[in-house]
Amino acid sequence: SVVPVILSGGSGSRLWPVSRSAYPKQFWPLVSQRTMVQETALRSHGPGFSAPIVVCNNEHRFIMAEQLREVGITAPRILLEPVGRNSAPAIAAAALLAAETDPDAVLWIMAADAAMQKPQNVAPALALAARVARAGRIVTFGMTPTRAETGYGYIEKGAPLAGYDGAFAVERFVEKPDATNAERMFGSGRFLWNSGMFVFTARTLLQEMEKFEPAILAAMRVAVRERRSDIDFERLDPTAFAASPDISIDYAVAERTDLMTVIPGDFGWSDVGSWDALWELGPSDGAGNVVSGDVVLNNTTNSYVRTDGILTAVSGVEDLLVVVNEDAVLVTHRHHAQDVKTIVAQLKKAD
Ligand code: GDD
Ligand code: MG
Repeated sequence: SVVPVILSGGSGSRLWPVSRSAYPKQFWPLVSQRTMVQETALRSHGPGFSAPIVVCNNEHRFIMAEQLREVGITAPRILLEPVGRNSAPAIAAAALLAAETDPDAVLWIMAADAAMQKPQNVAPALALAARVARAGRIVTFGMTPTRAETGYGYIEKGAPLAGYDGAFAVERFVEKPDATNAERMFGSGRFLWNSGMFVFTARTLLQEMEKFEPAILAAMRVAVRERRSDIDFERLDPTAFAASPDISIDYAVAERTDLMTVIPGDFGWSDVGSWDALWELGPSDGAGNVVSGDVVLNNTTNSYVRTDGILTAVSGVEDLLVVVNEDAVLVTHRHHAQDVKTIVAQLKKAD
């Protein structure tokens, strides 16, 4: 069976004012009635799956346990990080934990905060990925790019992998290119986006970590070995954990390894990074508006309006993002959705 590994580390600052560091985006029902953590956990629950390993910050432990319990996931293994060190240490810790039971366990790494609108296409791709992973390779799922996004990893699809119909070698993995390179790769039609999901055995990942980031692996060996069980949680040793380099799995392993394999998939994937992504996810009315909550629109087009409280009326505008909650209101242009991060930084400074 496959071991789901759910990473919950980001703070989702571009989704302010809903997403806050104490209660980030993955814990909100932004895309469906369930939260993204819940959707992610349910996607990897049931026959063929072991109990998930969830890696999150200590601060979020009760929200996490509660949200999983709500959807019937009663025995997760929740690994707690004392501080954020990005995804490479989190994944290494999960792999070490899984390897205690079975070094050849197949792990499916997932972000807690992505949406999948065609989940039915995931299972066949995952079955193929698990076979490829058992052959000692590292699999990522490639998404068809729709723009020259600089915030994603790009995968150049190579030759078909013999014996694994639907899987391809990876010529190159480029994490977060600059704008010029993003344009070039997008324009070439040869690249796919990295979805941020990976499939490999614990053994393979640990071997590549040893090769490329031995300091992370050394720190995580101690952090996992010296962990403390605390009711429903497993606390990684704080001193050892904090000693790890801070780096993502994309830079630590994906860009460097020779084992990379890509399986192109049509999952209706979105990384729900900013409010314009939610606008894109829809569903929209006849005028291209996406609304949520107690909203009244007049003569408004291509806008996203969300209120988690008071009645919100929007009139005579286009391409706006309007988000209202209990204690804050955001109004911005759809093409400036990324800049919300700057607002959050300003607010932090003002504190
Ligand atoms: N537990 C834990 N601890 N999880 C973390 C940490 C951490 O310190 N840092 C990040 N994560 C989790 C995030 O919560 C998210 O689920 C996942 O790891 C990816 O981290 P992001 O910070 O969201 O990465 P990104 O969006 O910049 O880039 C990654 O995802 C893109 C797709 O969304 C890369 O994998 C890109 O190549 C990819 O295209
Ligand atoms: Mg992300």
